[in-house]
Amino acid sequence: MRIMVVGGGGREHAIIKALRKNPSVEEIYCLPGNGGIAADARCVPIGAKNIPAIVGFAREAKIDYAVVAPDDPLALGCVDALAEIGVPAFGPDKKAAVIEASKVFSKDLMKKYGIPTAAYEVFTDAAAALEYVKNTPAPLVVKADGLALGKGVTVCMDRQTAVEAVKACMEDMVFGDSGSRIVIEEFLEGPEVSVLSFTDGETVVPMVSSMDHKRAHDGDTGPNTGGMGTVAPNPYYTPAIAAECMEKIFLPTIRAMKAEGRPFRGCLYFGLMLTKNGPKVIEYNCRFGDPETQVVLPLMESDLLTVMQAVTEGRLKDAEVKFSDKSACCVVLASKGYPGSYAKGCPITLPEAEKNRDIYVAGAALDENGELKSSGGRVLGVVAVEDTLLDAVRGAYEYAEKVDFAGGFKRSDIGARALRAKGE
Ligand code: AMP
Ligand code: GLY
Repeated sequence: MRIMVVGGGGREHAIIKALRKNPSVEEIYCLPGNGGIAADARCVPIGAKNIPAIVGFAREAKIDYAVVAPDDPLALGCVDALAEIGVPAFGPDKKAAVIEASKVFSKDLMKKYGIPTAAYEVFTDAAAALEYVKNTPAPLVVKADGLALGKGVTVCMDRQTAVEAVKACMEDMVFGDSGSRIVIEEFLEGPEVSVLSFTDGETVVPMVSSMDHKRAHDGDTGPNTGGMGTVAPNPYYTPAIAAECMEKIFLPTIRAMKAEGRPFRGCLYFGLMLTKNGPKVIEYNCRFGDPETQVVLPLMESDLLTVMQAVTEGRLKDAEVKFSDKSACCVVLASKGYPGSYAKGCPITLPEAEKNRDIYVAGAALDENGELKSSGGRVLGVVAVEDTLLDAVRGAYEYAEKVDFAGGFKRSDIGARALRAKGE
């Protein structure tokens, strides 16, 4: 089979390595990929948002199956456009991708179908939003409606921050059109859990749970990032909580999307907060998470391509989806200065391959001499899989020490909270 993966980060690298395990895979193309992915797939310089070029390439290269990984092409209808030329693709169509592309849509869906989430109000007018903020006690959370590169959410511990967040979205339009409508919601507290799931619109099969570390610095301080590391499984996500989530959140969401005429086929990501009043949805993503995928897929024992095809063809009910009971940890090496401004072009030397260790490349390019240089904020995800979480965390840090990347930094406490929760 000839496979095409749309995207070019660490998540896509992990997906490609997992797809490679299927013996029927002859060739994998990655659009656009990156300098590290080039070791595992043929990278094609077509941007993930360039739908006509992606479709043209799929036709020309006689692609048998596609995986559309990032939010933007999904929201732009990449899966629909590929379907039109007869190329089956993993991922929701445009109608279903709206579950991530519009927070107003997802909040209204949850309200209509009784799915637990933070209480909220929607505003299309800055004056009304500011009036609401004036009359509502902080903390509050201000969210731009549309996609905003993961930066559209401001957790406001005081009223002034909320006023500024509203103005940034609706007056200064810092997120462009994505902020012309906003959601202001109740602040929730509790451990966060990421649950990625496979769903074909009827059946939903959760993958192993995980925990992201979104803040840039140790002790969950500093600015929000795309994710500085992950562990799986998430120790807060007990079997009892998993059963509650299935009954009150996962199945109701799948049924709600179907009832709305937007059946969801692909990976639906549930961002949950385990509050003292039970699990609540913080956000839905219409795709695999990054860097959650880098710890979830290495624990998957079933064949990824087989499961993806079962999703696309609506036969997930009969598919085997098994995960090992080991643990995984991913430590992200980011460019110094990230998520603010940072230098590019810093040399990277990767260590020798080791058993139960892997490195997924997120932001690096090959220079004219074929040498790997940093090219993005998050550069590498260093992953270890071990029998225990403690060994996985240690293993990821030990392997990260063997990477030569002077321009980089990492958090030193990925997994620490999870280990404390386990009492390890
Ligand atoms: P998002 O960009 O939707 O992933 O949100 C970023 C982060 O903001 C989440 O991971 C949470 O830590 C935080 N957050 C979002 N909504 C809420 C809420 N209602 N209460 C507290 N924290 C929130
Ligand atoms: N790690 C969070 C996300 O992928 O949105």
